[in-house]
Amino acid sequence: MGDQFARPESGVIPALRWEEPPEGPVLVLLDQTRLPQEEVELMCTDVQALVGAIRDLAVRGAPLLGLAGAYGIALAAARGYDIHEAAELLARARPTAVNLEYGVRRAVAAFEGAQDGRRAEAVLAEARALHAEDAAASTAMAAHGERLLAELVPGGGYRLLTHCNTGALVSGGEGTALGVVMAAHKAGELRRLWVDETRPLLQGARLTAYEAARAEMPYTLLADCAAGSLFTAGEVDAVLVGADRIAADGSTANKVGSYPLAVLAKYHHVPFVVVAPTTSVDLRTPDGASIEVEQRAGSEVTDLAPSPLGTQAYNPAFDVTPPELITAIVTEKGVVSPVTGERLAEMCSQQ
Ligand code: MRU
Repeated sequence: MGDQFARPESGVIPALRWEEPPEGPVLVLLDQTRLPQEEVELMCTDVQALVGAIRDLAVRGAPLLGLAGAYGIALAAARGYDIHEAAELLARARPTAVNLEYGVRRAVAAFEGAQDGRRAEAVLAEARALHAEDAAASTAMAAHGERLLAELVPGGGYRLLTHCNTGALVSGGEGTALGVVMAAHKAGELRRLWVDETRPLLQGARLTAYEAARAEMPYTLLADCAAGSLFTAGEVDAVLVGADRIAADGSTANKVGSYPLAVLAKYHHVPFVVVAPTTSVDLRTPDGASIEVEQRAGSEVTDLAPSPLGTQAYNPAFDVTPPELITAIVTEKGVVSPVTGERLAEMCSQQ
């Protein structure tokens, strides 16, 4: 186990950091493909290595992809790589999480706005600023989310269901949906966290369970398909998920398997809450149908599920939940409920 990633008291896991050894700058990633078995560092000294790490999901989750994009441009600037080529490669590494493109765009703007000779420094400062903003957004979302939960589930002692991974591993802070769960846990109000395993790449089983275990939360892992029986048994007070892109009408792309949970939640009159920073809101994308959903290799499914040789697999990385199935969207700027395009735009325009 690498001692660089020893468990910090705060519970915040450093998923990514910038270092400047004498050989030149390096972006150090906690390789999430190796969790929970091993805490291993991945050293990215060039843009190609970072693009590979993004595609392989060594670094993943929408807010963290934004940071990776911005630091990736910082790496390109510091190492004399063509910025526009780097921006193209990074922004296209994964198509759904809008944060990636946002982080790249901000860093490129900082590069272009700086004087010759100060550009690398300006891009790094911008990446660090985005990192700090993301940490602050986590804190604010946790506070808004906690207040919302208290309204939605009077009496406290929440039993929350979550999907995929939305904690410190995807953020500069304590995360999005799991950040809210963490706040409830710290307040002594978390009765149970139900963790969907999240097929096929098991971000719930590998990563959310890892974070929940570190924080000593009361949590239980379930196969994704077991969620229905949990609802039937009345064991879920609210569903909390993150988002990879929120379109202008409030439609939300999140890890595949989120939409079926929203349908179940609606049927069982259980609140379905999306927690994401405004950097995941994309007002240029009008609606759910316009969101590009990443299709990943079928082998991710067949590797997990032994099947006859030559079996084809359908493997979208995300699905889209329409606004009418979403009880509330929580961002660092506040809560939108009911979810409408107008209310979402209004909240995003707040300073
Ligand atoms: O494919 P991934 O692991 O990058 O998926 C992203 C996610 O973790 C989820 O969709 C998440 O709920 C949104 S990012 C906080």
